[in-house]
Amino acid sequence: MPRVALIPGDGIGKEVIREARRVLESVPVSAGFDLVEWDLGADRFLRDGVTITDDEFRTLSDEYDAILLGALGDPRVPGNEHARDILLGLRFRLDLFVNFRPCTLLSPEFSPLKSVAGKVDLEIFRENTEGVYTGMGGVLRQGTPDEVAIEEDVNTYRGVERIIRAAFEYAERRSRPKVTLVDKANAMRWAGGLWRRVFAEVSAGYPAIATDMMYVDAMAMDLVRRPEHYSVIVTSNLFGDIVSDLAAELTGGLGTAPSANLHPGRHALFEPVHGSAPDIAGRGKANPMGAIRCVALLLDHFGETDAAGSVESAVHAALEEGWSTPDLGGGRTTEEVGEWIARRVAGGAGSAG
Ligand code: NAD
Ligand code: IPM
Ligand code: MN
Repeated sequence: MPRVALIPGDGIGKEVIREARRVLESVPVSAGFDLVEWDLGADRFLRDGVTITDDEFRTLSDEYDAILLGALGDPRVPGNEHARDILLGLRFRLDLFVNFRPCTLLSPEFSPLKSVAGKVDLEIFRENTEGVYTGMGGVLRQGTPDEVAIEEDVNTYRGVERIIRAAFEYAERRSRPKVTLVDKANAMRWAGGLWRRVFAEVSAGYPAIATDMMYVDAMAMDLVRRPEHYSVIVTSNLFGDIVSDLAAELTGGLGTAPSANLHPGRHALFEPVHGSAPDIAGRGKANPMGAIRCVALLLDHFGETDAAGSVESAVHAALEEGWSTPDLGGGRTTEEVGEWIARRVAGGAGSAG
């Protein structure tokens, strides 16, 4: 039985993971899952002064088959150090180099675009262990008018190659027509040069898949103009972070978007794309669909494709039948939506209330 660590984290992370757990416990699967809840987040940090220990990293790495995380970030920790240690710590120390963020239009009525000409159906492969997220850099003369702050943008051949290859392997496996590289090679010549060279090298091995290259500013514009033009997008850590919030909003809102942080064959951590949303936390307003769709990605990861499909269909059914939270114009609470979806995947027809 696969062992899954649940890390609800902070703010609405706790609310949405409660519903994701409910769905995971309701969906019929062959072996079931051993779910263990972990107390990592701002509460623990403020209480004990500890973010996450080396032992905990080791346990999560060696004794678990997957992790399902809510969100980390709390106004009581303005420096965000616990989120850096836990979330970025897990991404870096488990070497989860693929941040996979699928964006599929749930229903045109939930897109802010006036007209969505075609379907939005794309996947972002965000590099997840390098870029400006490594913490390399430093500060000089802090707090004075002469302060200098340097945040290095780290791009290694190995890191760039493996994320681009993962994107092409996925495109081939899922018969996706095109892979688009997103960069800023016009301004960032060294990093851009490396990404473009490696992209050409890797793509040569996949002659049936079309390729395209876009500067990130033009991509932000074009995703709004004609999102149906894109299928697989591969990009660096920071650009992937930004583009994935934009693409999520186009498809139904940040509250509905799932993601997977992967080291294929080794580790997997699933988390909704959204954060801890302090502005709505604790009020039953959070949309649990992003977290619940992470359950679908997790089931798919364990080869439970039918169960994954039933979770995804239950989310669509909930929307069709008006079971949504205020972000989508609905009047249901986080729990009501979670319970409805859980009943649906368990084989019930949904709620009558
Ligand atoms: P956010 O994603 O938390 O919120 C952005 C906006 O979207 C807010 O208006 C929020 O109410 C809304 N929103 C987000 N998720 C929603 C949901 N499920 N249902 C309904 N509305 C939702 O981003 P932010 O405000 O920039 O960040 C808040 C905190 O979360 C910060 O500390 C940030 O660092 C952290 N964060 C963590 C993660 C993560 O753990 N993976 C991701 C993003 C941000
Ligand atoms: C995300 C988040 C994180 C990121 C933050 C919380 C560090 O925005 O998962 O998208 O930038 O990767
Ligand atoms: Mn983000």
